[in-house]
Order: sequence, then structure tokens, then C-alpha cells
Amino acid sequence: MNPLSPDTPLDPDFEEFRRNGHAVIDEVVRYFQEIRDYPVLADVKPGEVARNLRRPEGEAGISELLDHYRATILPGVTHWNHPRFFAYFAITGSQAGILGELLSAALNVNGMLWRTSPSATEVEEQTLRWLGELLGLPPWFGIINDTASINIFLALAAAREATGLDIRTRGMAGRDLPPMRIYCSDQAHSSVDKAAIALGFGLDGLRRVSSDRELRLDPVRLREEITRDVAAGILPMAVIATLGTTSTAAVDPLEEVAAVAEQHGMWVHVDAAYGGAAAILEEYRWIWRGLERVDSLVVNPHKWLFTPIDCSVLYTRKPELLRQTFSLIPEYLKTTDEGVTNYMDFGLQLGRRFRALKLWLVLSYYGAERLRARVGDHIRYAERLASELESLRGIEIAAPQSMSVVAFRRIVRVDGETDEAASELETQELHDHINASGRCFVSHTRLRDQLVIRVAIGNGATVWSDVEVLLDLVREFGDR
Ligand SMILES: Cc1ncc(COP(=O)(O)O)c(C=O)c1O
Repeated sequence: MNPLSPDTPLDPDFEEFRRNGHAVIDEVVRYFQEIRDYPVLADVKPGEVARNLRRPEGEAGISELLDHYRATILPGVTHWNHPRFFAYFAITGSQAGILGELLSAALNVNGMLWRTSPSATEVEEQTLRWLGELLGLPPWFGIINDTASINIFLALAAAREATGLDIRTRGMAGRDLPPMRIYCSDQAHSSVDKAAIALGFGLDGLRRVSSDRELRLDPVRLREEITRDVAAGILPMAVIATLGTTSTAAVDPLEEVAAVAEQHGMWVHVDAAYGGAAAILEEYRWIWRGLERVDSLVVNPHKWLFTPIDCSVLYTRKPELLRQTFSLIPEYLKTTDEGVTNYMDFGLQLGRRFRALKLWLVLSYYGAERLRARVGDHIRYAERLASELESLRGIEIAAPQSMSVVAFRRIVRVDGETDEAASELETQELHDHINASGRCFVSHTRLRDQLVIRVAIGNGATVWSDVEVLLDLVREFGDR
């Protein structure tokens, strides 16, 4: 413990740090060893954790604090690292990723400029080149930010700059600008709407084109919408193709979408935040068809590439536009270094964590084959889950099964007809039954106004027997 003398560093004792570190690692290892015993979804009342949290007063030892963490904080955790976390998009705090976070926290660098830590910049640049190769992407410029939501905002800001309307300098207010519009499918992620709000297009500046039967962006409807808008004096600015939608992992037909966009000189952004990881497998490279007409693309290693949150990659073939949009160098940040990347020039934030370290560690420690094997396993589990569910009475697969996502619902038939109200009620009950068991966590969505249960498999530790637990819960509900 630190003596309270005025001239003592904050952390003077490295042996104490070693002991504390070992105790924390022991706690982390125990957590992973016992994780299947935890209820996946936290079972606490609102305010309970805050009320019981130890007030930071005076000094305390790690062992006392770890006891408190186990007693108060862990019970309020929903276990995203649980192998039976099937909600939203399942993610992984892999061992290599956790150690990468530890190393990066110890270095604690701020990679805003190349010179503020050349390794932070160069590990990021090089790792993103290798990640691109692993996924079969062209050698584009890449930058890591926290989330896909921020990256789509940056991409659409560059798209806005690409219109040549000099919005960076002159803004949008009080000018005689044509109304601008962004297009995506009705299945695209809500981060597109948020970017439209933040960039001044407003929600009216976004057109959600209704998707086709397989919940993909329909290029014919897209063309019709754009043609109508152009006739009304609207400037079509950008289109977003989602490769792996949030609800059903549907893959928009990029090639056709990009062809429509090209006719109008629009920016094409690809949201492969989740689905991009599938392209680690040769048999999924087809999702990139049309990439030669794409301007920017997002893939999240923190979703399905076993890297702890947060780590989202924005690739673009037009880094100069990103720089033109955001570069602003106050005197104190001017440097004379030549031939280097200063990542602060390519986005909104100045300070930036050394996230590339954990990504590099994940890619290097596991190697391509092991990563491929796990992603492939997840897809096989999802296919098998869909086929087993389909064979159950009272269950309907609600959308074409894609990647590692399965969407299904309970279905109640009366005289051969589907009773929608009863189906909705039973689907809700099944959803609640699964989650209340504590053994699995699933989420829901709404497809064509029908309530649907959504399963996404993607945790590095998940094995088929975990998925079987979910199947058992569904069967158990059917047998009531
Ligand atoms: C397809 C898709 N894009 C973007 C996002 C937003 O991701 P983030 O949480 O990294 O902002 C999500 C989130 O699940 C998503 O499913």
C-alpha cells in the first residue's frame, strides 16, 4: 500500500503490482472456467448494482476489491462472453484479445500522430493490410475506430464532401443546396439514421427502400426511388449495402446496387460490420462481388473475429477524401515527419487508443486456419440449428438462414390458417422462456410485422452442445 507521503509515486511497488496482477488473472481464468454456470442474462433489479457499489474512500487492497467485484458487480453482468450468448451479434473476449488489451493499457499510448507512438500507427496500418488480405479485400487504406456507427458517420461525411459542395467550409445552413439523399434497405442498421441526423441530412434525407422477399436491398426499387428523387430535384448522394443485416444476416446484392449508384455518381458504402468476417472463408468471398465500385467499407473484428470490443475497421479507397473532410492541424500538433500517417487526420477524434495491438495479437496467436475453422463451425451450427428447428412442430423458420444467424417463430394454426395474434403471443412466451432459464440468451426482431426470435452464433467458445441446450429449451416449450 502506498504510504501517504507527498513525494511518493502513485504506484511505487512493482512486487505488489505483480501479486495484484496474478490475482486478477486468476479471477479471469476462474471466470472462464466457470462461465457456463452463470445465468447468461443478468438477473438484477434496476439500481441494485449502483446501490450496493462500494464507495471509493481511502485506499483498498485488490483482494478486498475483487471480493466486492464478485459479490456486487458480477451478478449484474450479462455475460457476453458466455458460449450460450446468442442475442444481438455474439462476440468474444478471446484470451489473445484480453492479453492484447492488457499490453495496450500498460503502454497507454495516444496514437493521434505517428510521432506520438510510431508503433501504434504502423501496427494499425500493417495489421489492417493483413486483415484485408485475410478477408480477400483490396489493399485499401484502413483505420480502426470504436464502432461501426462512428465509421459509417465518417464514411458518409466523406461522401458529403465528395459532392463538391464544399460543406466543410461553407456548411449547409442558409445556402441554396439541393436536398441530398442517402439510400439503404429497410433492413439496414439504425446507425445509418443516426449518421443522417448528425450530418445534417435529417431523417428525411434517408430513404429506406423496401427489401425483397429475402430481406435484401432490391436494386429495382432502388433505381425507381432514385429516378423519382432526381426528377424532383433531389441529389442522390450515397447508398449503403449491408452484407449481413442485423435481423437476418441477409446479404444485399452489392454488384447490382453499386451499378445503380454508379449511374448517379453516388458514394457506395458497405456495412459488413458483422458479415465481413464470413469472407475469411473462401466460399463466402462472393459477398464482395461489386467491390470494385465501392468507396468505403466497415468490418467489425469486435463482432465475429474474436477481438474484444471495441474494434471496428473502416476501409476506404479514397483516404484523401476522408482527410479532406477531417484534417485540421492546430499549431501544437504540427510535425515535420514525412511519409507517415497521422491518424488524427482521418476522423473526428484526436486521441486514439492502441486498438491494433489486440487485433494483431488475435490474428497472430490464432492464425488464419484456426479463425477460419471457428467461423466455419458457427455457420455449420446455424445451418444445423435451422434444420432441427424446422423439423419441430409449431416452429417456423422466419427468414432464409444466412451466415451464423437463425430467425424463427412459434406458429399457431387454426383450421389450416395461421393465427397471427396467437403466434405472436407464443413467440413472445418462447423468447421469455429461453431467456428466463438463464441458460441461453436470444434476442428478437420484427420481420414484415411478425415477432421473430433471433439467434446469432459467434462466440469463440461455443460448441454444438451449447446450441443443443437452446434446442432443448425450444422443445421443452413445445412439450408444455
Ligand atoms: C449490420 C450492422 N451494422 C452496424 C452495427 C453497429 O455496430 P456498432 O455497435 O459497432 O456501432 C450493427 C450492430 O449490431 C450491425 O448489426
